[in-house]
Amino acid sequence: MPTVTKICCIGAGYVGGPTCAVIALKCPHIQVTIVDLNQARIDAWNSRDYKLPIYEPGLEDVVREARGRNLFFSTDIDKAIQEADLIFVSVNTPTKKSGVGAGFAADLKYVESATRHIAKVATSSKIVVEKSTVPCRTAESMRTILEANSRPNCRFDILSNPEFLAEGTAINDLFNPDRVLIGSLQTPDGIAASNALLEVYANWVPKDRVLTVGLWSSELSKLAANAMLAQRISSVNALSAICEATGANIDEVAHAIGYDSRIGPKFLRASVGFGGSCFQKDILNLVYLSESLHLPEVAEYWKQVVVMNEYQKRRFSKTVVDTLFNTITGKRIAVLGFAFKADTGDTRESPAITLVRDFLQEKALVNIYDPQVVHEQIWTDLTEVMPSVPLSDIKKQVHITTSALECCLNTEAVVIATEWREFREIDWEVVYTGMNKPAFVFDGRLLVDIQKLKEIGFQVAVIGRGERL
Ligand code: NAD
Ligand code: UDX
Repeated sequence: MPTVTKICCIGAGYVGGPTCAVIALKCPHIQVTIVDLNQARIDAWNSRDYKLPIYEPGLEDVVREARGRNLFFSTDIDKAIQEADLIFVSVNTPTKKSGVGAGFAADLKYVESATRHIAKVATSSKIVVEKSTVPCRTAESMRTILEANSRPNCRFDILSNPEFLAEGTAINDLFNPDRVLIGSLQTPDGIAASNALLEVYANWVPKDRVLTVGLWSSELSKLAANAMLAQRISSVNALSAICEATGANIDEVAHAIGYDSRIGPKFLRASVGFGGSCFQKDILNLVYLSESLHLPEVAEYWKQVVVMNEYQKRRFSKTVVDTLFNTITGKRIAVLGFAFKADTGDTRESPAITLVRDFLQEKALVNIYDPQVVHEQIWTDLTEVMPSVPLSDIKKQVHITTSALECCLNTEAVVIATEWREFREIDWEVVYTGMNKPAFVFDGRLLVDIQKLKEIGFQVAVIGRGERL
C-alpha cells in the first residue's frame, strides 16, 4: 500500500480550503499544499492577519495552528503536483451556461484542466482523488486524460472521495463526519489506493465511519445525498403552502412527522427556499444524467424538487406584494440577510437574490443587511441576476446598510431572508418605532415570535403559518 506523506489539493475554495486545512491539522506528519490559479484567493489564505477568503466558524483556528507547519497555500501548482503522492481535485463544477446540456449538466472544464495539468507536469505516480462533485463516471474520463498525456513511468490511481460538509458547520462536519466515502476500482491497485486514503482519514475518523465502495457508487452517492436532502426541503415547503391555506402550522407538522423515527427530525425546516452552490446544481446534474441515460420519468421526478423551490421563492415575494396592498412601487423594504444560510458569507443561489430582484422589478426601494456578505458581492449578484439593468440604476434602488436596525429604519416592511442568530435578538420595539406604519414583518425563516411582534403592533406573515396578519 502506498504511504501518503505529501498531499496537494487543487482548488482553494469552500471545500479544498477547509478540508485540506483539517487534514493538515489532524495529520502533522503529512505536508499539505493547497494550490489555486487565483492569486488573490491564495494571498488571502496566506494573509498575516488571517483575513481568509471564506468565512467559516472555527476555520481561522485551524489555519492558525497548521499554516507554515505542514499546511501551505500556493499558486505554484506544478511544484505541488510534482511533490505530492496524493492529489485532491477540488475545483468548481458549476452548471453549464451554454452548449450541450446548458442549464443542467455540470461544467467539467475545470476538472478537465486540473487533470490535464497533473498529466502534464507529474514526474512520478500519483493517487488522484475526485473531491469535486461530478457526474457518474467522470473518473473514467480523468483516467483516459491522464493515461493519454502522462510520462510513461507514471501511473495514476483514481479515487472518488466526495465531500459532505455543509457551509457554516464545515469544521465540525470535518472533525466529526457522519461518514467518509471512498470509491475505487475494485482491483488490487484500486483497493490499495483506497486504503492509502483511508489511512489518512484514520488519523481522526473512526474506521467504521469510512465507507469504501465502487467508484461509480461513490460518485452517484454524492448527487443522491444532495438530491434527497433538497427533496426533504421541497417537501416541507410544499406542505408549508398547504399550511398557509388551511391554518395548519408547518412547525407543528414538521415536529409531528419528524417524530417518526423512519423520517427523523432533521432538515425539515420550512423556508423561503433552499440556496447554496450545491443543491440546485447537483439535482440539475442528476436530471441531466437521467435524461442522458434515457430515463425521462426519473429526470422529471428530480426536476420537481427544483421547480418546487422556485415556486416557494416566487410565492414568498408575491405574498409581500399582495400584502402591501398589491403594490410596492416606491416603498422601502428591508431585507435582513443575503447569504444563502446563516454562518456563511456565501451567496451562491441565495434566495435573497431572487427576492431582491423581484422587489426591484416591482420598483421598490430595498435596504439590505447581512453580517458577513461583502458589499461588492451583493452588487455582483444583483448585476448578474438583472443583466439588462446597469449597476448605476440598481444602486438608485438599493442601499446596503451596516446594521439590522439601520436596515429597517424608515421602511414599510422587513423581510427575513437568512436565519442569522442576531436577527433572533433584534429589539423589535426599536425597529417598530423607526418604521412607517402599518409596519409589516415577513419571516422566510421561521425566526420571529409572532405573538410578541403582534403585541408591539406589527402585521406579521410567516412561511407555513395559516394565521396571517
Ligand atoms: P469554489 O469555487 O469555492 O473553489 C474552487 C476553486 O478551484 C476556485 O478557487 C478556482 O479558482 C479553483 N480552480 C479552478 N480550476 C482550477 C485549476 N485548473 N487549477 C487550480 N485551481 C483551479 O468551489 P467549492 O465550493 O469549493 O466547490 C468545489 C467542489 O466541491 C464543487 O464540485 C462542489 O460541487 C463540491 N462541493 C461543494 C460544497 C460546498 O459546500 N461548497 C460541498 C460539497 C461539495
Ligand atoms: C449542502 C449539504 O448539506 C452538504 O452535505 C453538501 O456537502 C453541500 O450541500 P450547504 O448547501 O452548505 O450543504 O448547506 P445546507 O445546510 O445543506 O443548506 C442548504 C440550503 O437549504 C440553505 O439555503 C438552507 O437554509 C436550506 N435549508 C436547510 C432549509 O431551507 N431547511 C432545512 O431544514 C435545512
